[in-house]
Amino acid sequence: MAKKVVVITGGGSGMGLEAAKFMDKTKIIVLSGRTKTKLEKAIKELGRLGFKAYAKACDTSDRKSVKELVKFASKLGEITNVINAAGVSPAMGGEPEKLMRINALGTVYVDQEFGKVMKKGTAILNVASMSAYQLPKFIIPKKAFPLAETDEALFLKKTLKMAKKMKDSYKSLGLAYGISKNFVVWYTEEMAFRLGKKGIRVVSVSPGLIATGMGKLEEENGGQFIKCSCENRMGEPKELGFAIATIVDERNGYLAGVDVLVDGGTIKGTKRK
Ligand SMILES: NC(=O)c1ccc[n+]([C@@H]2O[C@H](COP(=O)([O-])OP(=O)(O)OC[C@H]3O[C@@H](n4cnc5c(N)ncnc54)[C@H](OP(=O)(O)O)[C@@H]3O)[C@@H](O)[C@H]2O)c1
Repeated sequence: MAKKVVVITGGGSGMGLEAAKFMDKTKIIVLSGRTKTKLEKAIKELGRLGFKAYAKACDTSDRKSVKELVKFASKLGEITNVINAAGVSPAMGGEPEKLMRINALGTVYVDQEFGKVMKKGTAILNVASMSAYQLPKFIIPKKAFPLAETDEALFLKKTLKMAKKMKDSYKSLGLAYGISKNFVVWYTEEMAFRLGKKGIRVVSVSPGLIATGMGKLEEENGGQFIKCSCENRMGEPKELGFAIATIVDERNGYLAGVDVLVDGGTIKGTKRK
């Protein structure tokens, strides 16, 4: 029987790496991301814990690179779980377009390319964010979302129109981030119905503020929301890792087409005020 393979994009750190630690040790783990040194360190850590793990560099905003990742993982066995945790956040800086390419178009490439080879009984999980729930509805360019599959240039133009007008760089990236993660939630539902026909479950998870490297960078601005959560604290990376690992587990076979908000009640809390 072919070995089962778990692929984790953005798996070299944060909640992607934590999710790997909750996987069944009979499965082969493939960690991917752009920084090879980070991946090598992470697979050594998994090796010490008794996992068979491989590192494969991949930039999810490049479809060719995603195709290479699919090829690499397919050679190891049957891909049963894909955790798409690759993403960048506003405090990391850079251009809104780059952020949108990674968070939104990267999700399209990962879901489409893995969806081609995965079989019945498997699962794809996309990591969105509670930011997807924090924008007023009228700001979200939902009508432009389907363009991600047909006209990328127009998709980027329409989804980034407002962000590009903003003078404050952090606010501009913050708006692009919220829209990109709202897209991830929307696209997950689209793909769940499409790939559901093949028996592939597609689900998204929207974390609240989590104490990963990224979360700590966002704490200065996003920290104001901690007090709205039920527990008045940030989430632990391993808590998200456990949530993600259980959601993609085969035993969770009826969980599909939804976004699971793992935010300690933060979004509920902001609406209670
Ligand atoms: N931490 C939070 O508070 C929080 C809250 C809501 C949502 N999220 C989401 O959760 C996911 C995981 O984030 P994290 O908190 O675990 O932070 P993290 O440790 O920074 O993990 C993100 C990973 O994505 C990788 N990555 C970034 N761009 C990539 C690309 N183009 N192709 C492939 N890999 C890429 C990074 O590695 P390289 O740079 O080496 O590629 C990094 O290992 C992200 O999608 C993030 O937006 C986080």
